[in-house]
Amino acid sequence: MKVILVNGSPHEKGCTYTALAEIAETLNKENIGTEFFWLGSKPLSGCIACRTCAEKKRCVFDDRVNEFLAVAADFDGFIFGTPVHFAGASGALTSFLDRVFYADICGGLKSFYLKPAAAVVSARRAGTTATYDQVNKYFGLMQMPIISSQYWNMVHGATPEDVQKDLEGLQTMRTLARNLAFFLRCQEAGRQAKVPLPAEETKIATNFIR
Ligand SMILES: Cc1cc2nc3c(=O)[nH]c(=O)nc-3n(C[C@H](O)[C@H](O)[C@H](O)COP(=O)(O)O)c2cc1C
Repeated sequence: MKVILVNGSPHEKGCTYTALAEIAETLNKENIGTEFFWLGSKPLSGCIACRTCAEKKRCVFDDRVNEFLAVAADFDGFIFGTPVHFAGASGALTSFLDRVFYADICGGLKSFYLKPAAAVVSARRAGTTATYDQVNKYFGLMQMPIISSQYWNMVHGATPEDVQKDLEGLQTMRTLARNLAFFLRCQEAGRQAKVPLPAEETKIATNFIR
């Protein structure tokens, strides 16, 4: 079993990474494999709604989004970390998630279906819960069970050293990791016991006008 930890910060080894590293270390102790996926610091376009992904099953822009789509199916669980930028997720993570999940839906990839996910946010001071809510909304639409912790998944600090001093924040990360490991083991036990996947209906889309 393995989990991918996406770092939506422009800092490869900053505060968000420090929180994700605490999760990865705990998951490894629970015998769950981990991989980091940094979005990088180059500009990342938002979705241009061209729907090329419906045909090509990948995004029209060939960047970190397509690299992620190419490996997503190999992972059992997902952590998406972001710094708080003006009380919301980073522009990069927002663009990334819009395009990844839209391509998955339109392309019928199903790389995320019923796979557990969690949002992790990092802030100097405020905007954490708004950002946490924002990122969790993606999982709510993607049929991804949301894993929670002893507190909302946040750390505080302007530097990684600050984050190391946020003892409650780091403990929240470790608890989140253990809860995720437990969920993954339960899912695996369900697979072994041949618990069937839920029945699926043909999707209805009403656009609120008819
Ligand atoms: C453009 C921008 C906007 C920010 N907005 C907020 C904010 O609304 N609230 C806050 O507490 N910190 C804000 N910060 C600070 C970062 O969220 C904080 O330092 C974070 O821990 C940095 O994580 P990183 O090292 O992973 O990038 C902002 C930083 C930047 C660059």
